[in-house]
Amino acid sequence: MTRDTAPRRLRSQDWFDNPDHIDMTALYLERFMNYGLTPEELRSGKPIIGIAQSGSDISPCNRIHLELAKRVREGIRAAGGIALEFPLHPIFENCRRPTAAIDRNLAFLGLVEILHGYPLDGVVLTTGCDKTTPSQLMAAAAVDIPAIVLSGGPMLDGWFEGELVGSGAAIWKGRRQLAAGQIDNEKFLEIAAASAPSAGHCNTMGTASTMNAIAEALGMSLTGCSAIPAPYRERGQIAYRTGERIVQMVHEDLRPSQVLTRDAFLDALVVNAAIGGSTNAQPHLMAMARHAGVELRADDWMTHGFHVPLLLNMQPAGQFLGERFHRAGGVPAVMWELEQAGLLRADRPTVTGRTMRENLTGRETSDREVVFPFAAPLKPDAGFMVLRGNLFDFAIMKTSVISPAFRARYLSRPDAENVFECRAIVFDGSDDYHARIDDPALAIDEDCILVIRGAGPVGWPGSAEVVNMQPPAALIQRGITSLPTLGDGRQSGTSDSPSILNASPESAVGGGLSRLRTGDRIRIDLNTGRCDALVDEALWAQRANDPPPAIPPSQTPWQQLYRETVGQLDTGACLEMAVPYQRIADQLPRH
Ligand code: FES
Ligand code: MG
Repeated sequence: MTRDTAPRRLRSQDWFDNPDHIDMTALYLERFMNYGLTPEELRSGKPIIGIAQSGSDISPCNRIHLELAKRVREGIRAAGGIALEFPLHPIFENCRRPTAAIDRNLAFLGLVEILHGYPLDGVVLTTGCDKTTPSQLMAAAAVDIPAIVLSGGPMLDGWFEGELVGSGAAIWKGRRQLAAGQIDNEKFLEIAAASAPSAGHCNTMGTASTMNAIAEALGMSLTGCSAIPAPYRERGQIAYRTGERIVQMVHEDLRPSQVLTRDAFLDALVVNAAIGGSTNAQPHLMAMARHAGVELRADDWMTHGFHVPLLLNMQPAGQFLGERFHRAGGVPAVMWELEQAGLLRADRPTVTGRTMRENLTGRETSDREVVFPFAAPLKPDAGFMVLRGNLFDFAIMKTSVISPAFRARYLSRPDAENVFECRAIVFDGSDDYHARIDDPALAIDEDCILVIRGAGPVGWPGSAEVVNMQPPAALIQRGITSLPTLGDGRQSGTSDSPSILNASPESAVGGGLSRLRTGDRIRIDLNTGRCDALVDEALWAQRANDPPPAIPPSQTPWQQLYRETVGQLDTGACLEMAVPYQRIADQLPRH
């Protein structure tokens, strides 16, 4: 790795130390003084470091960062920098309606403007809850100033009646128990509370832990950062070191463009499979890669990810939660296995200033109940299967979460292993699903596949986590707790359903799902990766003349702007017009 360690003129000096624009410099400086910064320090040529604050009262998963930022500041000061903390657009996965996904691109846009338009030489990205991680990495990649990720860390492990209860996973299980009449509302709320025992983000390997693990796998955080539980003392310590390190990175001019290479993204995709990562990693990794100017293709998920074995025994794919994962060595312990097996491209730069290979040295796990050896994994083929057919050009399925019961029922026909056919029950959005799922007229049985459309980026808008639909209560009471599902939306990263999801193009833009009718048969072949409606070709072609099912009107200006500019999930649901803006920091903004 080559580094430039000679003193360099920093971009902040164009604001604060610019003899050609002394009139403007006075204006730029004066208001920072009103809370005690002196003109001397702002003009001293010390790196000015932004702390992108993602925590707030309405971003409770990231609220720990309000505390951690103090340690980040101290690290920045100690290393000779000046900290300027600023707020980000909040994103709270579980509470933002119609879906938090719509805010990923909004937070991205906001951060791009801040990083470009203010006198910042580097930035600490404070990540946690699902989209807070990709949104900030997308912006840092596009702007390309030195940037480092500080994860907030997961909550402590949850316990209820002597059993581990993980965030999200406990909710999905509780819902099924409620529908089956095994628990009452009060008990359901008790379980939910027990699954969230402290500050921090979700303690399962849901989308939050997945995206923070991916940030680390990409090489964007200090080694071991992502898995440290929020309340642990190591969390505050790594906040301090992250602050120190970003100042050095500014002196080295070590930028995201040096770290976020195709090799880094392929490694992240491999790590995602090995940790049993969230299906949301697919659009988020695509979006980050595109804003970094890296080509990541739909078939990379099959070529590089699918055959990677599951090594991490953590919910929802496995047994344990975040504290055990951290004590077992966290992401570096999983990557150590993959590195030994030759699956990584580890001779690549990272924000530590060392290569990923160097970061992983000596990181073998000490807990084989949690991190399994590569030679004896928990499961083979833990990556996402990519499917295509006449219903969509692209969808993914997490085949590693297929339960033995599901496999026995659908995938073990003696004449055609891994092939099944079902009768489609089609819902237009989640209101329609909730209104009709228990309607006896639909005669839903174990021969059915539940299909939801109108749940994609344009349709919802934002793409909703609704594809893991629960069967009708009558079926659950008979012991059928899951049916095959398919949709143009997403599903929660904490879900253990083997849904076919992220179908692109979505129904709202005329994708094949818009032609499907309840009662059509669908054939799914996991050997060939095909998923097709078995409808006569002439009839299928004729249905293309019908308009796609109606979608609800936009309720806010952002929803409308989002719908007009967003792409499909296969390519990351990016604001398409934003993708060409790369290395934005190379051009200083006008005075
Ligand atoms: Fe925020 Fe899971 S809901 S991390
Ligand atoms: Mg979610």
